[in-house]
Amino acid sequence: MVKGLKKLPKHIGFIIDGNGRWAKERGQTRSMGHKAGFRNLERIIKECFYTYGIPVVSIYAFSTENWNRPQKEVDYLMQLFRQCINEEFRDKYPNVRLNIMGDHTRLDKDLSDACAKVMVETKDITEFTLNLGINYSGKAELTYAFNQMAEEGLKNITAEDIDNHLYTKGQPPLDFCVRTSGENRLSNFMLWQIAYAELYFPEVHWPAFNKRDLYTALKVYQGRDRRFGAIKE
Ligand code: IPE
Ligand code: IPE
Ligand code: MG
Repeated sequence: MVKGLKKLPKHIGFIIDGNGRWAKERGQTRSMGHKAGFRNLERIIKECFYTYGIPVVSIYAFSTENWNRPQKEVDYLMQLFRQCINEEFRDKYPNVRLNIMGDHTRLDKDLSDACAKVMVETKDITEFTLNLGINYSGKAELTYAFNQMAEEGLKNITAEDIDNHLYTKGQPPLDFCVRTSGENRLSNFMLWQIAYAELYFPEVHWPAFNKRDLYTALKVYQGRDRRFGAIKE
């Protein structure tokens, strides 16, 4: 039991929204918002793993739809990914497996290679898993999974077959999903895995979402009654 929390999610997801609005409120550029957002990401991921012991953390960092943003903003975000997906990853995040969700081959070759390298280097780690969604969307993931199954000639497909063809193969489903910045939508995030997740939409913009807000979020999760379709006697 950590800090009075009895029931923690095994798998938590974050839709890290509001970097742009956070910056705008401060008269700064959107890039500065992303920079602050990425700094915060590191803090919150570490808090989830090392303070709370949550084994799986999923981050929606760049969607398949985010390519529609101005090239300058996309380039800046890619630079930020380069700064976290590199040789330092394993020192910064001990005992963490990095699992990139999304087709990373669409990224520049150096970044795609770096993704592949860290994924291979950390693939046998079982203690903590970081699923990082880059060029990710739930629909793209499911489409890819269905095509894989078709190629394998699978018939009478089961829910388990689908589970086994997703980026999250072998992981527990999402228990809790937090989207910052007050937007009440999923924007194509983990559509299959989120089926029975508890959802939480705090108003705070992502760069300002701090350790205290994480604690509050986990308290909210603890207060939820998860029934999974059953009833209490
Ligand atoms: C989320 O912040 C970060 C990414 C999509 C990478 P936004 O950039 O969407 O911030 P807002 O929604 O414009 O405030
Ligand atoms: C969702 O945020 C995607 C990520 C956080 C990476 P967006 O800001 O792109 O979502 P919409 O456009 O408001 O739905
Ligand atoms: Mg946004």
